[in-house]
Amino acid sequence: MKKILDLIAEQMRATFESCGYAADYGKVTLSNRPDLCEYQCNGAMAAAKAYHKKPIDIANDVAARLKKQAPAMFESVEAVMPGFINLKLSGEYLAAYLDGMRGGDKLGVEETGGGKTIIVDYGGANVAKPLHVGHLRTAIIGECIKRMGNFLGYHMIGDVHLGDWGLQMGLIIEELRDREPDLPYFDETFTGEYPQEPPFTISELEQIYPAASARSKEDEDFKARAQEATFKLQSGYAPFRAIWRHIMHVSLEDLKKNYGNLNVTFDLWKGESDAQPYIPGLIEDLQKRGLAYESEGALVVDIASPDDPKELPPCIIRKSDGAALYATSDLGTIIERERDYAPEEYIYITDKRQELHFIQVFRVAKKAGYVKPETKMTHMMCGTMNGKDGKPFKTRAGGVMRLENLIREIDEAVYDRIMENRTMDKEEAEKASRIIGLAALKYGDLSNQVSKDYVFDIDRFTSFEGNTGPYILYTIVRIKSILAKYEESLKTAQPQGSPAQAAADGGDGLPSGNICPAGSAEEKSLMLKLAAYNDVVETAFEEKAPHRLCQFIYELSDAFGSFYNTTMILKEENEEKKAGYIRLIRLVKDVLESCIHLLGFEAPERM
Ligand code: ARG
Repeated sequence: MKKILDLIAEQMRATFESCGYAADYGKVTLSNRPDLCEYQCNGAMAAAKAYHKKPIDIANDVAARLKKQAPAMFESVEAVMPGFINLKLSGEYLAAYLDGMRGGDKLGVEETGGGKTIIVDYGGANVAKPLHVGHLRTAIIGECIKRMGNFLGYHMIGDVHLGDWGLQMGLIIEELRDREPDLPYFDETFTGEYPQEPPFTISELEQIYPAASARSKEDEDFKARAQEATFKLQSGYAPFRAIWRHIMHVSLEDLKKNYGNLNVTFDLWKGESDAQPYIPGLIEDLQKRGLAYESEGALVVDIASPDDPKELPPCIIRKSDGAALYATSDLGTIIERERDYAPEEYIYITDKRQELHFIQVFRVAKKAGYVKPETKMTHMMCGTMNGKDGKPFKTRAGGVMRLENLIREIDEAVYDRIMENRTMDKEEAEKASRIIGLAALKYGDLSNQVSKDYVFDIDRFTSFEGNTGPYILYTIVRIKSILAKYEESLKTAQPQGSPAQAAADGGDGLPSGNICPAGSAEEKSLMLKLAAYNDVVETAFEEKAPHRLCQFIYELSDAFGSFYNTTMILKEENEEKKAGYIRLIRLVKDVLESCIHLLGFEAPERM
């Protein structure tokens, strides 16, 4: 469906033209004075200069003609000093637009993506290290970007891009050697098959890594051994590859469970290790073409450009000790992705501290022609989630907070709120608090601008009032309950299977018919908000700004609240009017549900 703003602008452009002015002056925006009008056009002011007339004369001229040309579209068209054209949409026109949304695919959102492939690289967990809150934002934001893109008809490919090739592997191998020296992986004379069974469980692994990591900070010798083991693993040493496969297997299972609890899924579970086969060829190619050169023993590619505000260091693609680097593996990954998907766009979502890394990787990829010049490469940089002290979020004891513990804390806080004043049995309350807790966490994150730091405030996030996830869910649940009561009343009035009921059934359980023109200011505001839905989804995706979607559903929920407080919906005596209300609030619910689905959470049945 066309956006409502575009429909109004089309009309406005035609009117400017028929008054003898260029159509381009007919731009229309949402009003910045909702007390005066709903939409406005400021084109007369700009046209005044070009046509040497007074703006108000042009505005009067256009307004008078617009009233004649589009009487069905507007309730009022007014020219006001110094030359604004203020518009109010007619109730019938707006109601018909909303009916179009109800009848349309995707509630009126058009598929603008045209099947273009976009790779979203998010999550970025490091294998064998527990998921911590630093990985939370990228997972939540990436999932939302992917869902929005798919909804708009892009072909989004989400890749977790695991950190699975680093020093943590060598640390685990050497720690394991010290703990269980008799394992066949450490017997150089062993020639048989390595065991199928992993030599550790996930809880053992979760214990091995932190122990090894702590040890490496005090024990130089141990650290050197771990580095050596990492190098051997990377060079393909079979026993260590076998351990590595066990580590991967055991951790992946756990990671999938953790991401699953966040309602985050990936199309690809690739990692840095998958890039390794491409690296020798990549280095050779860069060297042969003179793009890479030796500098202080390392191999580097210059990426600086004269327009840079400050000079950027070259990208190191091989260290002097020959070890693989983060940038090199990202370049290898690009080569693989080009071969397999040739995407039109890349979106990487990480912490903002990786800014320089991605500038370097993108520039090398373009300079070497590994990606086409027109391919868009975007790095979405996330701000940090801070504690109330303004520093990166920590546990009460000051350690790094594990994701599962954070989720548990939120769920418990929601559970307490539910139990405060609601009648729900324990089991249902626990189930609901998991659903609401996830909404609290995700909305708390997504309602902030991606690049900004924010404070993780459990009390605020879990509140059922204000700009929070639970408030949005509460609105949905409230509408569901009105709809259920209405359906119940229909059933008692017209017994199942009766001819009267069959006639009344519009296929969706509702009597067939339309949304009625607004009967109050509150109803009109609600309807105007709803009509912006397709515009908001498109903009939120284009600007990669989930917070716009959050802002929209917050305003929509508020508009519903005002409507609800001023309207007797179920007590309305005129049945046709009542059915109109029901259709309207059902559309509110559908739009809210569609938006929260894009944000990556769901609503419970009750709360
Ligand atoms: N594993 C990395 C980290 O924890 C994030 C990976 C991001 N993606 C990428 N292609 N570099 O910081």
